[in-house]
Amino acid sequence: MRAVQLTGPSHDASTTRVGPVEEPRPGPGEVSIEVAYAGINFMDVMARRGDAGYASRWPYTPGLEVAGRVRALGAGVDTFSVGDRVAAFTRSGGMAEIALASAEVVTPVPGAVSLQVAAAAPLALSTALLLLRDAARIRPGESVLMHSASGGVGHAVARLAAAEGAGPLLGTVGRPEKVADGLDAGWDVVTARGDDVVAAARAAAPGGVDVILDPTGTANLELDLELAAPGARIVLFGNAAGGTPAPLPPLARLIGGNVALIGFSISRLQESTPHKLAAALADGLATVGNGGLELPVTVVDSLDQVGRVHDLLATGRGSGKYVVAVGA
Ligand SMILES: NC(=O)c1ccc[n+]([C@@H]2O[C@H](COP(=O)([O-])OP(=O)(O)OC[C@H]3O[C@@H](n4cnc5c(N)ncnc54)[C@H](OP(=O)(O)O)[C@@H]3O)[C@@H](O)[C@H]2O)c1
Repeated sequence: MRAVQLTGPSHDASTTRVGPVEEPRPGPGEVSIEVAYAGINFMDVMARRGDAGYASRWPYTPGLEVAGRVRALGAGVDTFSVGDRVAAFTRSGGMAEIALASAEVVTPVPGAVSLQVAAAAPLALSTALLLLRDAARIRPGESVLMHSASGGVGHAVARLAAAEGAGPLLGTVGRPEKVADGLDAGWDVVTARGDDVVAAARAAAPGGVDVILDPTGTANLELDLELAAPGARIVLFGNAAGGTPAPLPPLARLIGGNVALIGFSISRLQESTPHKLAAALADGLATVGNGGLELPVTVVDSLDQVGRVHDLLATGRGSGKYVVAVGA
């Protein structure tokens, strides 16, 4: 079968290859999936860069989410049949014609949901859902601010937050030319970082922001604290620039501000509480299936294009959510 392989750490596509690899066979508790579409994520770029905790070894096949049909069942799996339409979290290896997933994090895809949209659901949609509901415990009427608001997760968060009755919805982006993408995603106000984010946020949410979602490590934490309303939840869920994050703020700052600082990692949840991920994925797919949420995706033609999309994401030039057609 064909798969994308990263032969070593790199800041560009120079170590990305597409070629034949051995077909993986499902072990006990696993399912193998004929991949129709695989979601492309910034976390693939972090793996390609060699950030700690992403690529476990080289060569490494990236790809953390897929949709397709069940090909084979490992020992002890009786919840699926061969041929079922499914979406799944993959620990790696999604950018391949056949991928493996733990059956615990595989979910049937409702008939009303296309496999290309389903491929964006495990990472982008479930992350958005868990960030808002579990980590931030959002309530209707609360204001939200998210950094990197025009990407795959950003689109899903904007749409879900609106569906939850939250608002105003404030986004920041890294470049002025991405403001329009952020507005298209569904954010009410989008500001390029470097412009006056504080003024824009104060105008839209004069009492401060209730929920702040930040995947930029500690680079914008001072800004987050400045904008936080009393009772705010700041969720840190990434380290986009890589490198060593700065120390967290002193306790007095959190106590004095009545602010909660929360960490979130979907990879760690996959290890500790996979049922939570499966429930979020099923919930997200059902919401898309019943028309409660639209999840736009950009389909990339083939595995040969994945390196190019990784380059777009790596340089902050991507827009929205990308999925690659594999065996569609
Ligand atoms: N913790 C979790 O479980 C979890 C799950 C999914 C995603 N994430 C994180 O959520 C973020 C969004 O993920 P996504 O897949 O939807 O990606 P994305 O937003 O489509 O692309 C990543 C974005 O990160 C921003 N960025 C900030 N600093 C950067 C830097 N130094 N180099 C390159 N990009 C930088 C860029 O947007 P701007 O320049 O507009 O900010 C870039 O477009 C990522 O940081 C990802 O790691 C975390």
